[in-house]
Amino acid sequence: MTTDSSAIRPRMLTGDRPTGPLHLGHLVGSLRNRVRLQATYDAYFIIADLHMLTTRNTPEDIAQVDERARGLVLDALSAGIEPDMAVFYLQSAIPEVHELAGLLQSLVTVSRLERLPALKDMARDADVEMSFALLGYPILQSADILSVRAQSVPVGKDNYAFVEVTRELARRFNSRYGEVFPVPEIIAGEAPTLVGTDGKRKMSKSLDNAIALADDAATVRKKVMRMYTDPHRVRTDVPGTVEGNPVFAWLDVFAPDPVQVNEFKRRYEAGTVGDVEVKEYLSNVVNDVLEPMRERRATFSQPGLVDQLIERGTRQVRIETQETVYVMRRAMGLTGAWNRIRRRAERTGS
Ligand code: TRP
Repeated sequence: MTTDSSAIRPRMLTGDRPTGPLHLGHLVGSLRNRVRLQATYDAYFIIADLHMLTTRNTPEDIAQVDERARGLVLDALSAGIEPDMAVFYLQSAIPEVHELAGLLQSLVTVSRLERLPALKDMARDADVEMSFALLGYPILQSADILSVRAQSVPVGKDNYAFVEVTRELARRFNSRYGEVFPVPEIIAGEAPTLVGTDGKRKMSKSLDNAIALADDAATVRKKVMRMYTDPHRVRTDVPGTVEGNPVFAWLDVFAPDPVQVNEFKRRYEAGTVGDVEVKEYLSNVVNDVLEPMRERRATFSQPGLVDQLIERGTRQVRIETQETVYVMRRAMGLTGAWNRIRRRAERTGS
């Protein structure tokens, strides 16, 4: 007899919109957490291109989805996600998710959605008006989560409100039509937010202050050397400020040896170490973090491998989604209505 541990493992779903390559901020903010969680959970990863459409829907955006989807999967694999355990899937290849979302729509009010600050933030950041699709973003996300009946959803703070909506929808569906869905838990990552190379804002590709996980060693070094530091520090012997200095914020996150970091901080504040020396150290630290990931990336970069993973995962989730939709329709009585009409039509027809 073989032991099947997957049968007793709880299921989690998380994922990203395919809007660009992942960077160090994602590594600290979500990827490391995902890698940890795969030991305990059956891990499903959505490539949420339908969610991307809620703010970015030009043909140019859409034309990039497959390349960016591959990129997301490679980033995840390079960070330590194990391909044999994980299920990666492309949301837009599962049209039934729209049907599922449609069946949920009557269980939430427009005003509940209009009151979500996270949605207004997304509209503002993307510089778009609130479309019907964007208003429905949390319902679509709920459809994702409920389609695979995930028990757990590891997401960042910006997504908590959406999973709250999912929890309400699951409870409402269950109490109105019968127990179908587990009410999913949010798994909060205890992750710090990583500041960008500009030292001012959260790391983000669109702000051009990011180091991509796929950047090579020379690019990393160049970006670190150009990083913002203490602007008042015109010479090495001028005492510098550690507080709010992104170079030290990154060292706190990535350096393996806090004693050495503290020594750099002390010397920086005393004016006995130059920015260049600290940055040399930081660039090595970051490259030491990325180097094993580069090796993993190379092993998974053989042609077709990532596409096969996505294809396999998407087929699996499509079948699961079709089953879930069927169970919902049955619980709601919709299959019964159609069956009775069909049967009567057969009986009365000549
Ligand atoms: N909303 C997520 C983001 O911020 C993407 C996403 C779509 C998602 N569906 C999901 C995350 C389901 C977790 C579970 O990009």
